[in-house]
Amino acid sequence: METLGQKHLDRERRMIRDTEILEYIFSKYKDKERDLNEQYRYTPPYPTLALDDFIPEQLSKDLYEESKTIPKEYWTAFTRANSYMEECKDLTEAPVARQLVSAFHSREFMQWLSKIADVQHLLPDPYLVGAGYMKSFKGDSLKIHTDFNWNEECQTHRALSLILYFTPDWKPEWHGDLQFWDFEKKRKVVSYPPKMGNMVLWKYHKRGFHGHPNPIDCPEDKFRVGFRFFYYISDSKHDWRDPPHKSLYWYDKEKNQPYHIDAEYGHKKLKDN
Ligand SMILES: [Fe+2]
Repeated sequence: METLGQKHLDRERRMIRDTEILEYIFSKYKDKERDLNEQYRYTPPYPTLALDDFIPEQLSKDLYEESKTIPKEYWTAFTRANSYMEECKDLTEAPVARQLVSAFHSREFMQWLSKIADVQHLLPDPYLVGAGYMKSFKGDSLKIHTDFNWNEECQTHRALSLILYFTPDWKPEWHGDLQFWDFEKKRKVVSYPPKMGNMVLWKYHKRGFHGHPNPIDCPEDKFRVGFRFFYYISDSKHDWRDPPHKSLYWYDKEKNQPYHIDAEYGHKKLKDN
């Protein structure tokens, strides 16, 4: 299936693949998990990690361009509490973002993220609930808020949020910096500019106030654009009447139930072929 975005990109050159995205990230950050974890843990007001140029520059440019080509019907407006933001999580017409999602939901990336954030059994969300592209324009703001804590689609609890920004040449006087406030929602503690290629990762916190409350003051032809990923943990428990077991290959006709033979477990040498 060729999409509009694909056509747009193919005229120029081929798309950056998920594996290339991971190669770029890991060339910079693999084996630095310990340092990054320290940075994450001790950044106020609650564990946060902000890194510049987290993804290839060309990918940021492609994502920025793609966000302009995705047809209007794929976007929805978020308008709670006088905020305004356009969101797109249907990536039918977004081949570049599909590669990004593939990379950021991959086994390798999830394992890396688990180490940075000290979270085990971390899960991505294939439905992109509340996630995906986000776009805001001159005059738009996102009021200071705490995040939703439960993903109904996946039946999981929010653990981490990760945002990437793509607007080229974002100027500080245009505002739109992501602000983290104190636990009483009284004052700003730290903020990060929505600079192209920037990544901000933070831990879900019940009193984790954040947003970009000051209306964006960019030129009419510019916009603030990024992509959000939310990661989760599950508190699912196995049914005590059916405890966890491996695949069962034998059947006991008298008891009418499948069973296993312990001696058969284990891995044998690969066949020579
Ligand atoms: Fe939020």
